[in-house]
Amino acid sequence: MKVAILGFGTVGKGVYEIIKKANIQTQNLSVSHIFIRKSRERILPQMTPDIDEIVNDDQTDVVVEALGGIEPAHEFILKALNHGKHVITANKAVIAKYLKEFTDAADANNVKFYFEASVGGGIPWIQGLEKALRIDSVNSISGIFNGTSNFILDQMSRNGQSFSEVLSKAQELGYAEADPSADIDGIDVANKLCISADIAYNINIQDRSKLPVFGIRNIKSSDVKFFEKNGYSVKLIGQTHQKGNKFDYVVEPTLFLNHTLEANTPDNYNLISLNGDTIGKLDFFGQGAGMFPTANAVVQDLLDIKEEKDHLKRDFNNEMEYSPELTKNDYLVRSNENVASLFKDYAPSKKDDYLVIHQISTGEMHRIMKSILKVDHAAFMVSLPSNSSLAGDSSISKQEAVA
Ligand code: NDP
Ligand code: HSE
Repeated sequence: MKVAILGFGTVGKGVYEIIKKANIQTQNLSVSHIFIRKSRERILPQMTPDIDEIVNDDQTDVVVEALGGIEPAHEFILKALNHGKHVITANKAVIAKYLKEFTDAADANNVKFYFEASVGGGIPWIQGLEKALRIDSVNSISGIFNGTSNFILDQMSRNGQSFSEVLSKAQELGYAEADPSADIDGIDVANKLCISADIAYNINIQDRSKLPVFGIRNIKSSDVKFFEKNGYSVKLIGQTHQKGNKFDYVVEPTLFLNHTLEANTPDNYNLISLNGDTIGKLDFFGQGAGMFPTANAVVQDLLDIKEEKDHLKRDFNNEMEYSPELTKNDYLVRSNENVASLFKDYAPSKKDDYLVIHQISTGEMHRIMKSILKVDHAAFMVSLPSNSSLAGDSSISKQEAVA
């Protein structure tokens, strides 16, 4: 099977190297083309800056898109599908936006569109989710979806390094996006959560303007130390629940007691969990970023195509309503401004440098935080687990599904 790779960065090179390292499974794969910019030197014979040469080549069976970003990735994926090529991509930004369009184009052209590497890097998460959906309704998904932010939080906690120092290290290691703000502001988690929710609920999330997303840009070493002193680790979490025809989703820093799986997810690792009717809670753990774990997931998709293994079919046509009120949490807020009055309906109390907010819906919490950030750019918030000692006596347990 002949494979064209678009983009020769971290992921593209990883795919090339795994295919080159022929073993029994990969020996019938070969790289026909590598798409690069016109300005780049052609250091390998397969390199070309001409996308039409690739899509018009009858010998090429599969196009692996590893460019990143929205355009021209969107245009090239559609072009390849419409020229009868199977397409594999690790690009969650473009999938989150165009999953239905790509799936429809693949169906219309009787080819495959596979994207295992786009969520959870090397973890077979999409495959696991799709397998669960063969039997169960998946009622919630939550977890650590971003390797870069996990690496940053883990290093800050273990080695006391500063945020910027650790971010540079994550970039050097090939974990971060071309624009790392996607990693630290929670956008990358939001993309992965949208893809997961689209598959789990068979929906097509298009309007993301209401999606509550708060990243780790404003976290300080002193926050991490305070959480640790109280027995907690902080993680950037993506979470979605469904109840009837309503669903919610949120991306936010969240505290976990030190004995939990989340607190013990190190380095660039991800931990993604689902809850199904009969299977209960299922956890998926592994390296969520980096050259070879990600390329491994891409090559697994290549082998599925070669072996004609079908993935779950979804039409993404379910109608569900986004509800910002479905989940309530307790939160800690750090701000240089006096913001207690904004939370007057949620029994605000003081704990060291933080304001404790009780049982507020995720939608309302993020709406208020957005207004705080306008006056205090350094403000930070973190969600607390149920019955946390940090919430004080007035904490009542986390309640879901009040809507
Ligand atoms: P890199 O930035 O390392 O590589 C991207 C490559 O694509 C570069 O070689 C770049 O070339 C090339 N490229 C980008 N735009 C164009 C264009 N218009 N024309 C020609 N070449 C282009 O990114 P990664 O390999 O890390 O990521 C690729 C994709 O995989 C992204 O969507 C990312 O989100 C996803 N991903 C990455 C993971 C990781 O751990 N790195 C894990 C999971 C998914 P140039 O250098 O000339 O700009
Ligand atoms: N930048 C992403 C991360 C790459 O750190 O998780 C994997 O999707």
